[in-house]
Amino acid sequence: MSTPILTIDGPSGVGKGTVARVIAQQQGWHLLDSGAIYRAFALATDSRGVDIADESALEEIAQNLDLSFKTHLDSELVSVYLDGKDVSKILRTEQTGEIASKIASIGVVRAALLKRQQDFAVAPGLVADGRDMGTVVFENAPFKVYLTASPQERANRRLKQLRAQGHEGIISQILAEVEARDARDSSRQHSPLKPAKDALIIDTTELSLDEVIAQVSELVKA
Ligand code: DC
Repeated sequence: MSTPILTIDGPSGVGKGTVARVIAQQQGWHLLDSGAIYRAFALATDSRGVDIADESALEEIAQNLDLSFKTHLDSELVSVYLDGKDVSKILRTEQTGEIASKIASIGVVRAALLKRQQDFAVAPGLVADGRDMGTVVFENAPFKVYLTASPQERANRRLKQLRAQGHEGIISQILAEVEARDARDSSRQHSPLKPAKDALIIDTTELSLDEVIAQVSELVKA
């Protein structure tokens, strides 16, 4: 029997990562945060000073990316190591997300990172979150979810998260960033953000995290 896979796609700030982590913990499955791969790749190109128009240099970096993850399923932490260095903190910044979103639109980059993502599909199962998990990377996954929420709600959640970390933010600016990222991730030619035809679409705008988890959990158990 092939490895069971649950894909969770959706725009930034919708809560995919948290839902993915909780379901992986419930099921005892592995976890793939594909955004972290794009973010680490963005850091690698940035630190090497590579011009993002230089596709062959990008392809080479993508193929040789020295990247490893340490998942702590019992906490919110996932440590990410790039070239042997813990980059977990810088990986999560808005600025890294911005570069990742730009670089992720390049076809050769996506192709070079494809197998690395598919290799996460090992027994007993996998929960994979991102933008194209159900449409491209794990097209044949038996369980697919697409999470969405209004941009305003996602900006509010982001502001709450920043405050919880002791930072401040300006809601109008966060909203503008959320909308710009949505536009870029959805309109690109290669693997744009969109629900898979066979995905369960959940609008989380009015739902609590527990309610979302209950719906996804139901799908996997059924
Ligand atoms: O999920 P995230 O915010 O960590 O992702 C950062 C960026 O990486 C996102 O704006 C677009 C890109 N990405 C992608 O193109 N495909 C994925 N499967 C995951 C992320």
